[in-house]
Amino acid sequence: MKAAYLIKYGNTETAFKIREAQKPRPKANQVLIKVEAFGLNFADVMARLGLYKAAPPLPAILGYDVVGKIEAIGNEVTHVQLGQRVTALTRFGAYAEYAIAEKEVVFPIPDSFSAGVAVALATQYSTAYFLSYNMANLQENDKVLIHAAAGGVGTALVQMALHKKCLVFGTCGSSEKIDYLKNNGVHHPVNYRTNDFEDTVRKIMGIKGLDAIFDPVGGKSIKKDYRLLGAGGRVFSFGVSSMNQTKSILGKLGVLAQFGFYHPVQFLSNSKGIIGVNMLKIAEENPNKIANAMQEVIRLTEEGILSPHVGGEYPVDDIAIAHGFLESRKSMGKIVVKW
Ligand SMILES: NC(=O)c1ccc[n+]([C@@H]2O[C@H](COP(=O)([O-])OP(=O)(O)OC[C@H]3O[C@@H](n4cnc5c(N)ncnc54)[C@H](OP(=O)(O)O)[C@@H]3O)[C@@H](O)[C@H]2O)c1
Repeated sequence: MKAAYLIKYGNTETAFKIREAQKPRPKANQVLIKVEAFGLNFADVMARLGLYKAAPPLPAILGYDVVGKIEAIGNEVTHVQLGQRVTALTRFGAYAEYAIAEKEVVFPIPDSFSAGVAVALATQYSTAYFLSYNMANLQENDKVLIHAAAGGVGTALVQMALHKKCLVFGTCGSSEKIDYLKNNGVHHPVNYRTNDFEDTVRKIMGIKGLDAIFDPVGGKSIKKDYRLLGAGGRVFSFGVSSMNQTKSILGKLGVLAQFGFYHPVQFLSNSKGIIGVNMLKIAEENPNKIANAMQEVIRLTEEGILSPHVGGEYPVDDIAIAHGFLESRKSMGKIVVKW
């Protein structure tokens, strides 16, 4: 089979090579999928830049989500059949013609779902579901701030918060994205390049604080988030995309310091908190939570309540262009790569 290998950290032009690879064989509790398309996630960009610790060593096959047909199943797998079209989560290995997934994270999908919609549901929508429904337990009238609100996870969080009838603030970095956020129903879109988001939220909210803030940016953004919380509010820190701006160890330490330093007694006396979420950890220790999130996002999409936006579709030969687009901060919604 062919696979798009990450062979060199750094620039998109020299990072990937499509090479022959050994077709994997599923173990008893696994499924082999003939991949129709795979999705890109921001963590893939971090891995390409050599900034993602959990990524396999070079040469590596990256990727967390695939859509395709079941080619082979292990003898402990009973919920899917050969030939069935599924979306699945992979722990790397998705940028290939065939990919292996654990049985718990393989889900049949209707033919009406495009490849882009199917892969958006896997990593980005399941992450957003776990954040907003399981962790934040959003309620009607909650005041919510979503960072990178035009991105893959951000688009999903906006749809989920609106479905829960929350008041939604969303940040992004361009006027095109402001239009996208308005079209998606965000009540207060903020371009952080032209307006400080903390000042903007404060002007609108006065002394009232926010109930939930979803932050994949990290660094000094978290400090501002914390100040914007009301009593009972929480910041959900689920990424450090601001780290991709810095290469040196000192620079990285600087970003980590910018998060701020907190003592639990502060959380207790102010009734506020900061919670970290890493879906790889959840998948390791509580795969049933991922399965539940996936089943729910598939159901909500079938019912028309959720509607993933596909912001770019590329043939595999253009994987460098697809990666560059996601890194450029211009993409909106999900980027999908097709075989
Ligand atoms: N913890 C987990 O388990 C988990 C799971 C999935 C995703 N994530 C994280 O969620 C985030 C979103 O992932 P995604 O795949 O949906 O990507 P995405 O949001 O579609 O793309 C990344 C977006 O982040 C913003 N961004 C990029 N670099 C930035 C920087 N240096 N400073 C500030 N903003 C920056 C840009 O939008 P704007 O400039 O317009 O804001 C960019 O378009 C990533 O940080 C990812 O690592 C975490």
